[in-house]
Amino acid sequence: MSTISSVMQETRVFPPSAETVGRAAVAGMAAYEALCKEAETDYAGYWARLAREHVVWKTPFTQSLDESNAPFYRWFADGSLNVSWNCLDRNLENGNADKTAIIFEADDGKATRVSYRELHLLVCRFANGLKSRGIGKGDRVVIYMPMSVEGVAAMQACARIGATHSVVFGGFSAKSLQERISDAGAVAVITADEQCRGGKTLGLKSVVDEALGMGGCESIKTMVVYRRTGADIPMQAGRDVFLDDLLAGQADTCEPEWVGAEHPLFLLYTSGSTGKPKGVQHSSGGYLLHAILTMKWTFDIKPEDVYWCTADIGWVTGHTYITYGPLACGATQIVFEGVPTWPDAGRFWQTIEKHGVSIFYTAPTAIRALIKASEVDPKVHPRNYSLSTLRLLGSVGEPINPEAWMWYYEQIGGSRCPIMDTFWQTETGGHMITPLPGVTPLVPGSCTLPFPGIQAAIVDETGHDVEWGKGGFLVVKKPWPSMIRTIYGDPERFKKSYYPEDLGGRLYLAGDGAMRDAKTGNFTIMGRIDDVLNVSGHRMGTMEIESALVANPLVAEAAVVGRPDDLTGEAICAFVVLKQARPSGDAAKLMVKQLQDWVAKEIGPIAKPKDIRFGDNLPKTRSGKIMRRLLRALAKGEEITQDVSTLENPAILEQLRQSA
Ligand code: PRX
Repeated sequence: MSTISSVMQETRVFPPSAETVGRAAVAGMAAYEALCKEAETDYAGYWARLAREHVVWKTPFTQSLDESNAPFYRWFADGSLNVSWNCLDRNLENGNADKTAIIFEADDGKATRVSYRELHLLVCRFANGLKSRGIGKGDRVVIYMPMSVEGVAAMQACARIGATHSVVFGGFSAKSLQERISDAGAVAVITADEQCRGGKTLGLKSVVDEALGMGGCESIKTMVVYRRTGADIPMQAGRDVFLDDLLAGQADTCEPEWVGAEHPLFLLYTSGSTGKPKGVQHSSGGYLLHAILTMKWTFDIKPEDVYWCTADIGWVTGHTYITYGPLACGATQIVFEGVPTWPDAGRFWQTIEKHGVSIFYTAPTAIRALIKASEVDPKVHPRNYSLSTLRLLGSVGEPINPEAWMWYYEQIGGSRCPIMDTFWQTETGGHMITPLPGVTPLVPGSCTLPFPGIQAAIVDETGHDVEWGKGGFLVVKKPWPSMIRTIYGDPERFKKSYYPEDLGGRLYLAGDGAMRDAKTGNFTIMGRIDDVLNVSGHRMGTMEIESALVANPLVAEAAVVGRPDDLTGEAICAFVVLKQARPSGDAAKLMVKQLQDWVAKEIGPIAKPKDIRFGDNLPKTRSGKIMRRLLRALAKGEEITQDVSTLENPAILEQLRQSA
């Protein structure tokens, strides 16, 4: 809340420089307004024009938007294309064959360059290899890979043959992986022997083996293993194959599978307000359009740029802004295997200097951690590096507090580079509310204005617009090409989650609270309105963590809430009732550690509660409902000023106030 009030009082404004306006694809507020007007006047026509201009179609579409089965919207549905063709072959035809597509910056600092021609070759052979294992159009393929050229190529190879990929972040546990494989009914997993992070190696194939051993994954017939470290690992004959063996002898070209625009390019599981993660399904044509358009309009990508998005391909940012957007625009980009703090916290700045990065896209949580590190150790302060090649910065994943924004602007961008604070979600496919470099006066902490054509608004609980200056639910009034198509296997949940009847069933509900500045109309995101937490820019469902905790045989009941955290944005705080007596002192500390490790094993280390408190019970109303607002106040260390008269057991609050 302190962030929101400081943003609302923010008076600093940074208008675009003449130079930035001069080179930008959308130059000046008048150009922005003209695009918005075009979209308002003929919505479907606006997107159709852009889809014809920016995407290469095998068969042109004749209809832009099909609303006949709303909210299951369809875009450009009778057109056909191949996304991998648009990312690779298109560049061979455009004269980019020998241009560097990827600079792979390994954990140990070794850099390798891959041209568009080489990437095309790898993807074609990979695609042929997958086909040789009987994998084809419509099959689901799970990718559990480290950051690597091969990880990007695996995704592109699936796109090439019309298989739908589902990337699972390499930090997720065997159990999380098993749930995702099983829900998707995947036929293959693509993984690596190990991954390298921060000078350490961690098993990946071993986690896949464990996941498959849990049952429910009988659909898996193939496991492709990329040798990252060459570790000695067991292979199951018939099922498992090393990537180099799979590629050996494959033809160097692979005719793409031309698919309809609505063909599912990928599923990506994300947290919602129930315990079960949802498989967000994306299309091919509409998704690709937005990936390209936002690269051009938000990031102002130009042929000479060296672009670096620090996200992992396991998250949506890595999909749109590593695997698809930059390649479809013929960009040169860095794919980074390491971590920001190893060998020291100057790694990002050193890498920018080393490769002459001009566009840099990262998360506020990384910026905050690096500010802190540079205060502790002046050697890793960005002033020690030459960052003069930078010309544009981006931020994503969570609100950026004005202090971090200013540091990013001054220390990293040399007060010269505009910051694109891009608000969007796994479900939206690409940027929704964001400044454009040649258009928008920047205000620290605000994601400013909707991308042209995105009809973002703020409404009350009945779906009516609220005035500027008042908070409400963030919605999108019209469908857009890169939107989520459904939740895989659960269309009802899709409707309920995103098009709730309370709001009339026709507004896309983002799940965030937001407010517009009374004068400028700039949007500020106020955080999730559902039971979803944002920890270091990662979405975590409180119910998911609660289910993991109660699966522990020692736990009787658990409730999870978030509390503000200076570094990670939000921190996970769990209130736990054990089946045994409430522990204290060292026994309590030991139990905390045990439960943290348990959650790491059940979901992944990112879901570990930072704070665990034990009580004989949880605060409940007489009807047995857990009073979460009280838990949130306790987690923050606030005095309870709220009415607790309906509480069954007020004495419990005192116990839960104490951290273990
Ligand atoms: O709460 C918003 C926050 O992250 C959520 C989406 O998370 P996810 O689907 O994992 O996608 C993250 C990467 C796009 C949103 O509902 N969020 C994302 N970007 C911002 C943000 N909050 C404020 N400002 C942002 N720029």
